Amino acid sequence: MGIAICRTREELRDRVRGWKCDGLKIAVVPTMGALHEGHLSLVRAALARADRVIVTLFVNPRQFNSAADLAAYPRTEHEDAEKLAPLGAHLLYVPDGEEVYPPGFATSVSVTGVSEGLCGAFRPGHFDGVATVVAKLFLQTAADYAFFGEKDYQQLLVVRRMACDLDIPIEVVGCPTVRESDGLALSSRNRRLPDDTRGAAAGLSAALIAAQTDIEAGVPVAKALDEARVAIAALPGCRLEYLELRAAHDLAPLPEADRPARLLVAAWFADIRLIDNVAVNHSG
Ligand code: PAF
Repeated sequence: MGIAICRTREELRDRVRGWKCDGLKIAVVPTMGALHEGHLSLVRAALARADRVIVTLFVNPRQFNSAADLAAYPRTEHEDAEKLAPLGAHLLYVPDGEEVYPPGFATSVSVTGVSEGLCGAFRPGHFDGVATVVAKLFLQTAADYAFFGEKDYQQLLVVRRMACDLDIPIEVVGCPTVRESDGLALSSRNRRLPDDTRGAAAGLSAALIAAQTDIEAGVPVAKALDEARVAIAALPGCRLEYLELRAAHDLAPLPEADRPARLLVAAWFADIRLIDNVAVNHSG
């Protein structure tokens, strides 16, 4: 049997009302579709925690920085629904643009602090777009839990901050990044990587993991990052955007790994921007 699909806020509200009346706990997994094993791992984690799981699929125009990137984003609703059905997810919510942003829509949710720097510095307005749509999805689904991948680590912290600051009663759960066997972090954008770039993209994750190993072994942070930048610069067709060590808790810059940290990277391969990050255990 296929997964139930609803496309309007009203249909969604009716379902949620019924579940709430029955005292059921609800989890939401927000996605932009083009589902891969990383998304499916979030759905499995949600099913283990809640009685009902809603997956949302909406390619949110407000978080894209270019019309070309928005247009190129894969749209695979049919395949997505087929991947979700066997897992036992209960509802796929697929609103259209007008359902999410009806005429006259004029509100933006903007999180300061954790949204600044890293991707926030290179993608102006991106996290406002994410925070706005995710706030709406949290309110529309009235979910008790929300599941996000740690691959988008900065997004995870932005969303957590937003839910806390707006008193939205939802627990935001972060789940580990899922990787290919060669280490490449799964991303809906990977499918657009040309074959001759695929190996170089895996090299990005390899450089990140090498720097993580070095820092955890006591190599000074600046030296480990310099070596990783050299390794990344040597990857064919790769343009590094940033590689930084930040505090895991609030993304404050870290000259030394003296507290729980996160090493984060963003790089371009042709017109495809990839991000990745790993935890760095502190030595101090
Ligand atoms: O991570 C994503 O796919 C998107 O940023 C999200 C959280 C679904 C919001 O559009």
